[in-house]
Amino acid sequence: MQIKKLTLSDAEQAYNMLIAADRTYSSLSAIKEMLSDKKTHIFGAFDGDKIVGISLCYELLRPSDKKELLGHGIDILPELRGRGIGTKINEFRKNWARENGFSEIWTVIRHDNIASRRANEKSDAKWDGKNSCVYTIKLS
Ligand SMILES: CC(C)(COP(=O)(O)OP(=O)(O)OC[C@H]1O[C@@H](n2cnc3c(N)ncnc32)[C@H](O)[C@@H]1OP(=O)(O)O)[C@@H](O)C(=O)NCCC(=O)NCCS
Repeated sequence: MQIKKLTLSDAEQAYNMLIAADRTYSSLSAIKEMLSDKKTHIFGAFDGDKIVGISLCYELLRPSDKKELLGHGIDILPELRGRGIGTKINEFRKNWARENGFSEIWTVIRHDNIASRRANEKSDAKWDGKNSCVYTIKLS
């Protein structure tokens, strides 16, 4: 299993992976746009040439000199969950962020998503015990 930061040439593979993980809203053109964007970072777990897990991250623009990363979503192929891949991607993301000058990684996890919480905690993520409210406004 190899983890790496995806490039534009991985777009089709990334798309196929997301569809296999039931993220049916995914579009190849949107993934290409994300992979072309300098402030979007996508990490993939490879089994040979095949992407089996993906983590989407965005560089936050903040009114300070500090660089922060938002971990927005992570998906492992359903048949390969629970085998340590999510933990490995999170660990890679943390090391990559540190090496690239980020001071903090944010992520929002549903309280009942034990696998995701554990996979983050194993990479030193800490929940402050308070900030668990996520409000969304659907506009369409
Ligand atoms: C959440 C997800 C990314 C975790 O990746 P993963 O490869 O399955 O997780 P890992 O195998 O690295 O396991 C991480 C920890 O969670 C635990 N875990 C894994 N699956 C679990 C489950 N279904 N229930 C409870 N704990 C679970 C593991 O035991 C491990 O903890 P441990 O080392 O203390 O035993 C993956 O399961 C997934 O894609 N889920 C669907 C999409 C999703 O929920 N994304 C996150 C949105 S925030």
